[in-house]
Amino acid sequence: GDISNKEVKQQVAFQVAEKVKDGDVIGIGSGSTSFLALQAIVERVKEEGLDVKGIPTSKEAEINCSVLGLPTTTLIDSRPDWGFDGADEVDDEQRLIKGRGGAMLREKLVMASADKTYILVDQSKIVTRLGEKFAVPVEVDSRAIHLVESTLETYTSVERIEMRMADKKDGPVITEGGHVILDVTFHDIAPGAETSLKGIPGVVETGIFAGYPIEVLKV
Ligand code: A5P
Repeated sequence: GDISNKEVKQQVAFQVAEKVKDGDVIGIGSGSTSFLALQAIVERVKEEGLDVKGIPTSKEAEINCSVLGLPTTTLIDSRPDWGFDGADEVDDEQRLIKGRGGAMLREKLVMASADKTYILVDQSKIVTRLGEKFAVPVEVDSRAIHLVESTLETYTSVERIEMRMADKKDGPVITEGGHVILDVTFHDIAPGAETSLKGIPGVVETGIFAGYPIEVLKV
């Protein structure tokens, strides 16, 4: 019969744990699939007494490393040999939408610093049109909200712009960098979308990840 989503995520987590070698510095992704992978990695590290360090992609990943007992380092002190992370969408050109967790700035810095990042997904993340299920998160300096919104309103490819609001408190979500997130729904995400969004003053980062050395792991 059908295997559950959780089992699929667990299998992908074991696949990534098999890649670990002694001495590796590994980029540690955010989200529930990455958490399972981190658990599987720590299990191997402890069992085999491996010397492995993680570079977390978010506060959440930082706390998980500390709770599970994986030593960490930073991009200032070292470079990841490889990394792993989840995604919200993957298209057939291996472009990603990330940032449901709001951590895309740090996630992109770690991914861009690694020679290879394994993207851990189940079938529900695979799309034929990027932006099919998710809006593109755009992290914006709060002083630039009006500038960015009014610029995006002139784009014919933009359908809707929504400021991401916090769940359990009043007001917007504030990222680790102290910025806000505009969730931008596109009719069509053109190849140059990431670059053109980042050309708007005040845009700190976007959730479009295109052209990075990734390998998609799914079962
Ligand atoms: C975090 O900002 C996101 O990019 C996550 O990588 C993404 O939301 C995947 O999370 P799950 O593995 O929980 O679906």
